[in-house]
Amino acid sequence: MDAVTRYHERSKHRLDRYAPGPGELDWATQPDPFRRYAGAPLIELPLIAGELPAAYEALFQPRPAAPFTRASLGHLLELALGLAAWKAYGTNRWALRCNPSSGNLHPTEGYLIAPELPDLAGGVYHYASREHALEQRAACRLEFSGGVLLALTGIHWREAWKYGLRAYRYCQHDAGHALAALAYAAACLGWPVRLLAPWGDAALAAVTGIDRAADFEGAETEAPETVAWIGPGAPPEAGAVLSALGSARWQGRASALSPGHVDWPEIAQVAAAARKPATPPAAWRPERSEALLPVAAAEAASRLIRRRRSAQAFDGRTAIPAPAFWRMLDALLPRADSIPWAALPWAPRLHPVIFVHRVEGLAPGLYCLPRREAAEARLQAAMRRDWLWAGVPGCPDHIPLRLLAPLDLRDFAAAVACHQDIAADSAFSLAMLAEFGGPLDEGPWVYRQLYWEAGMLGQVLYLEAEAAGVQGTGIGCYFDDAVHTALGLEGRAFQDLYHFTVGGAVTDLRLVSEPPYAHLADRARCP
Ligand SMILES: Cc1cc2nc3c(=O)[nH]c(=O)nc-3n(C[C@H](O)[C@H](O)[C@H](O)COP(=O)(O)O)c2cc1C
Repeated sequence: MDAVTRYHERSKHRLDRYAPGPGELDWATQPDPFRRYAGAPLIELPLIAGELPAAYEALFQPRPAAPFTRASLGHLLELALGLAAWKAYGTNRWALRCNPSSGNLHPTEGYLIAPELPDLAGGVYHYASREHALEQRAACRLEFSGGVLLALTGIHWREAWKYGLRAYRYCQHDAGHALAALAYAAACLGWPVRLLAPWGDAALAAVTGIDRAADFEGAETEAPETVAWIGPGAPPEAGAVLSALGSARWQGRASALSPGHVDWPEIAQVAAAARKPATPPAAWRPERSEALLPVAAAEAASRLIRRRRSAQAFDGRTAIPAPAFWRMLDALLPRADSIPWAALPWAPRLHPVIFVHRVEGLAPGLYCLPRREAAEARLQAAMRRDWLWAGVPGCPDHIPLRLLAPLDLRDFAAAVACHQDIAADSAFSLAMLAEFGGPLDEGPWVYRQLYWEAGMLGQVLYLEAEAAGVQGTGIGCYFDDAVHTALGLEGRAFQDLYHFTVGGAVTDLRLVSEPPYAHLADRARCP
């Protein structure tokens, strides 16, 4: 735990000093965002023809489950981790994906572990997003049905190249975004998603093959993040999958991503300290039973997911209507069957503190949304005594939004977000306060889970913003303790783990946008 706390403190950006970073970017060692496994058979996946039928507004109602086939799994991966567009500016050209990523560096890799399907052999596959194809790492008979396993790993070097010590945090955020992206993509196909919390990292590393040192010789290692069960059936035990894989034939060697590296020993230390052992199943069920407020978004969910973008600037004018704001907040509250919260088997541990700039009918100011009842009194006790904790007129009763103080927070929001105007020129921005003390008593690996939850909150806001006709942007650069001090938080009972901003975006017309898979023009497309 000491190693985790030390890392957390050392990786804070401070008003007078940023966390240790590389100084300058070494373009010669810029990591390749696309990992490949040389020698692994490549199985092409069909692309989505047009759009999938589910409207975004209908995703939140039960839907019939699609059968598991190569095509439907391809659609899942395309909408969760696949390419969404190419952008070009001058001679630079870069891919964007359905899942966002700090610095667009994409540390997260996805592995599909599937039983024998009519048109896909059972085994372990790495998803190659540029090729929209599966690389078969291991062929083997897996005796489960009614779903597939999808494991996420992280390549710390991809983020450390640019962000230095803070990179480990961003890898965790990105894993959370990817997990939520998976939940939305699966919902388009009528499949529920559940994170398999009991799995330990050793099992995760073994089923993804990232512990096979010989296959990674000369290549950057991957760290296990998490594994989700996707589908209506019951998930297999880790032990059963591992023993079936015992006789598997592995193939492929991981590609090297950079010709040179800078070591960040403190990242290796925190990663080792936060490794997760196998744990007993968690049994938390959400308390909330009120139906989620509706959203008027008849657009196909697949289209909305693919057009999600991070705003690079906001117009400083657009105000969002209060009902749209209530719906966005409501979507952050966990319910037993809600996307993506049904994936998490633990109680919510992150609570947004919201800087409202432009929401119609709402006083600009500081607000708090305790995401579960028990947290409100603790947040209140931990913060400045003179915050109001007042109810908000017009806010639906089941949304526990509290006004702490009516204030113009535009300058403050930008200043604490590393002086980024995107936090001030939007309709609202927010800081996510994590319950730090209690949850971490469970074990140092919970540190990672807190960032995943933050990333998931961010992903909900990204998609809900698009549905409301505005846009969002994740903000990983912020001055941690400056926020704590302003809120009156002392000690480490609550820590600020992520910021986010939502508003009317200004489009950069200099950027040329190209379709995501034009380079696969002859690839089969299927509905
Ligand atoms: C964890 C995280 C932190 C981010 N931090 C910032 C930030 O501080 N400032 C910013 O302008 N964008 C930030 N972004 C947005 C990314 O730059 C953006 O996701 C990436 O360029 C890919 O673009 P896309 O989201 O449009 O796919 C962040 C995104 C994530 C997921």
